Amino acid sequence: MSMIKGFHHLTAGVRHAQEDVDFYVKLLGQSLVKKTVLLDGDDPIYHLYYGNANGDPGTLVTSFPFRQRGVQARPGSGQVRVINYSVPRGSIEFWRSRFDRMSVRYDAEIVERFDERRQRFYHPCGIEFDLVETDLDKRPPCVAGDIPEANAVRGVHSITLSLREVAESVRFMSEAIGFRLVGQSGGYYRFETHTGGPGMVVAFLHEPDRMQGSSVYGEGTVHHVAFAVDSVDQQMELKEKFMALGYIDTSESVNRNYFRSMYFKMPGGVIFEAATTDIGFAIDENPGHFGEEFQLPPWLADRKNELLARLEPISV
Ligand SMILES: [Fe+2]
Repeated sequence: MSMIKGFHHLTAGVRHAQEDVDFYVKLLGQSLVKKTVLLDGDDPIYHLYYGNANGDPGTLVTSFPFRQRGVQARPGSGQVRVINYSVPRGSIEFWRSRFDRMSVRYDAEIVERFDERRQRFYHPCGIEFDLVETDLDKRPPCVAGDIPEANAVRGVHSITLSLREVAESVRFMSEAIGFRLVGQSGGYYRFETHTGGPGMVVAFLHEPDRMQGSSVYGEGTVHHVAFAVDSVDQQMELKEKFMALGYIDTSESVNRNYFRSMYFKMPGGVIFEAATTDIGFAIDENPGHFGEEFQLPPWLADRKNELLARLEPISV
């Protein structure tokens, strides 16, 4: 059985903080689970975490609003191309009329693949999202005043990677991280891990002619995907396994306050991460109050007011 049982989080570079909050919270009914900061040099930038109200791993998407710093990322191959959220069967029509009402760009055509109906729509910074209809996702619904349970997002269903070449990456998915190839359709390859189903699915899209995307943190791309592992011990076990298989592009375990991160590049160039589930969001806010206050890691806590003053205010 694989050590990796599903997603932990996805991290993207977006445009403005407020439009990002509006996209995840107002439009999609996600909770702002944590409001903190990335400090790279002396220049603070928000780090915003969204997910279900519990902040469960596998529901989390995090954003860095990069417009403030003016860094553009280049979409292309070797990246996570699409973030897919699961919604119950028959709810795409609800979302299409919501997109109309809230002026969200979406595709006219509803697509079906691997027996699931899908609706493509777009984040204001251009990142592609799909709603995927399934009744197999039993995670708590992200309901809101105007989003009933029957239509509510359950969490990250899957990710779609854009790859110029797939052979080596197909092998990596099974040998290195324990996913099974469960289906192929056109240029799409579908992998599942653990018990399979929503939250445990990775898809490849083979795009041999798509130019390489950037791997900088910048506006307009998903930077990486993190899979959940239990502990730093498991990270180190994975790291050794990757090295033994010939994949030496791995990082040390890095302290991210709410979890520990070990990064690695899969053969197709996409940045993967193994994030631990042994810490969590309750270290600085009580469950039920996640995301209410601006939080800083202990090593920055005494600079709270100074850093806040240099960020645009956001309202949730
Ligand atoms: Fe991450």
